[in-house]
Amino acid sequence: MDFKKNPDIDFKDVDKLSREEARKEVEALREGIEYHDYLYYVKNQPRISDAVYDKLFQRLEKLEEAFPDLLSDTSPTQRVGAEPVDELKKVAHAELMLSLNSALEEKDVRNFHDFMRRNTKGKTVEYVLEPKFDGLSIEVVYEKGRFQYGATRGNGEVGEDISENVKTIRVIPMHLQDGTGLPDFLSVRGEVFMTKQGFQQLNRERIEKGQDPFANPRNAAAGTMRQLDPKNVAGRPLDIFFYEILNIEGDGLASHWEALKQFDRWGLKTNPHREKASGFEAIASYHEKMSRRRDDLEYEIDGIVIKVDSYEQRAKLGVRQRSPRWAYAWKFSPKREVTILEEIVVQVGRTGVLTPVALLQPVDVGGVTVSRATLHNEDEVKKKDVRPGDKVRIVRAGDVIPEVMERVKAPGKKRQKPFSMPTKCPACGAKIFREGAYYFCPAGLSCPPQVVGRIVHYASRDALDISGLGEKTAQDMVQKGLVNDVADLYTLSAKDLLKLDGFAQKSATQLHDAIQETKHLPLDRFLYALGIRHVGRRMARVLGERFQNLEALKEATKNDLENTEEIGPEIARAVTQFFAEDINKQVLARLEKEGVEPNEMSGKQKALPLQGKVFVFTGKLKNYTRNEAQRRVEDLGGRATSSVSGETDYVVAGADPGSKLDDAKNQGVRIIDEEDFKKMIQG
Ligand code: IVH
Repeated sequence: MDFKKNPDIDFKDVDKLSREEARKEVEALREGIEYHDYLYYVKNQPRISDAVYDKLFQRLEKLEEAFPDLLSDTSPTQRVGAEPVDELKKVAHAELMLSLNSALEEKDVRNFHDFMRRNTKGKTVEYVLEPKFDGLSIEVVYEKGRFQYGATRGNGEVGEDISENVKTIRVIPMHLQDGTGLPDFLSVRGEVFMTKQGFQQLNRERIEKGQDPFANPRNAAAGTMRQLDPKNVAGRPLDIFFYEILNIEGDGLASHWEALKQFDRWGLKTNPHREKASGFEAIASYHEKMSRRRDDLEYEIDGIVIKVDSYEQRAKLGVRQRSPRWAYAWKFSPKREVTILEEIVVQVGRTGVLTPVALLQPVDVGGVTVSRATLHNEDEVKKKDVRPGDKVRIVRAGDVIPEVMERVKAPGKKRQKPFSMPTKCPACGAKIFREGAYYFCPAGLSCPPQVVGRIVHYASRDALDISGLGEKTAQDMVQKGLVNDVADLYTLSAKDLLKLDGFAQKSATQLHDAIQETKHLPLDRFLYALGIRHVGRRMARVLGERFQNLEALKEATKNDLENTEEIGPEIARAVTQFFAEDINKQVLARLEKEGVEPNEMSGKQKALPLQGKVFVFTGKLKNYTRNEAQRRVEDLGGRATSSVSGETDYVVAGADPGSKLDDAKNQGVRIIDEEDFKKMIQG
């Protein structure tokens, strides 16, 4: 059985396997899955489809469930799943984790190079040049190729055990690829980082949820890696480059360059931009080249690292004050330039967040013409006290978006009035509101920069479930002027829809019908579809049950809302603001005119068939997606939760159920299959 080469095979029935057969298969599956992880995450050259991968993964889960004694905490199935901890344990590093001496100035780097030459007694010094990654330095330890633990740097001697968080990063292997023999003990060092794009996406989500955004990708990566609950780490866009051996047993390696090549063979991801060099000129040109490239990279770098290649020379050079003499970081100087701030405008993002942006007299900052720079939020503008007409200093750090750093004082010059945030949204005129450090436009239903996102949300599965209306189609609709807000959706004829890219008679009719069919759905789904801030699926249900029809909710005061169990002041405010906003009133009135009348909901007092019952789903259902099944339960008054506990009434076990089934058995919770479930929700 070799799932590396032949991943797509038909499996024998689990019941027919002996323990020994199962053990062999589990081993082969793990090896296969890890190999395909390696091809996908490290080499970026996947060789199998998602479907085949999933099949292997599910088979492994099934075998581990049938033969629990074969479970291993480094199995691919165990990457996420550890319980949260109260604090991170301390762990002593296998070797001191040193820091780097660094400089901004060329002359300091020349001095470093001269020192190397003097101290290597006339032999040429070969260097390895690498980018200096701006992330979080960690140690990862393998014994006989098997993952043991991961730790933060801490004070260099003792760090914090972040093994469970490290395990969620799928780029980091749980077993090294076994090409050329594995060392009994290996401790390696690398930099965990977040990609620029992943960081931006994460911050958008955080702002949307009312959480403070991270200041930069490094803080985001560092904050994430020190989380106490690994579930908060899984799924975050984290990556790693390994760059040093801290400690190794049974070593045959003579140089850093060779070590990095060995990392590649072991499946430890390295950075491709490394180069060998000797002499100062080569160093300077690498520094120049990387500083030009830095904006094009997907991750942040803040300089280059110059390392002596030969381990023998390194040993002779030694360490001074916790920094090796054999390595040096040459940082990039942040690019700064002075220009005139012409105007401060306010930009509306896709989620409705309002950002003050400085419009500048165009200026060249390190080879890029800059004419706009972000000012983040009103407090920043006040703190920096920048006003139209002022001279300002612009920095373009690793980030693509340049920033106004400070005002350059010009004594005697008369200044204009300080900036203040408008009271109305510059894109649609709605009255804006503040939450934390940010302002938002509440008119998501029709505010142009927000409208595509809102239509996509309105049509999404858990909202009104309009199939055929995704991001591309919504964008096309808005671009072609077919819709300006969600109410316009109902005015579209099938003929109008034919104007959309990729639509023909049949698909246009289908989409038209799908839209029209959403006119009388339960109130809570409609409320969720409106995309009111802080109103997720559950809150929409709470609101629906409390107010029962849209009219009553529209008229509810902040007090009425706050007097409802589960509704706090923030939600109460978001809801009243939403319905008070003129633009939203207009859109709602037009929706009504088009015949959109959500069905009234019955209040909580009227018992629904599944009132108060708590369901947990495990495994695959044939007739419903997980979301659909959960929605059915909720529509009938029940609740679906993700894990089995004392309050669980039923565990619905589909095909290939997971460990929740065991939890149910252990806790004596009633287990039903899909057929029983179907009867229950139909009866
Ligand atoms: S080597 C002593 N290589 O920079 C040698 N470090 O400011 C060990 N860093 O704490 C470090 N990129 O987290 C090395 N290519 C690279 C690096 C790198 C980033 C970090 C590392 C270190 C910090 C020092």
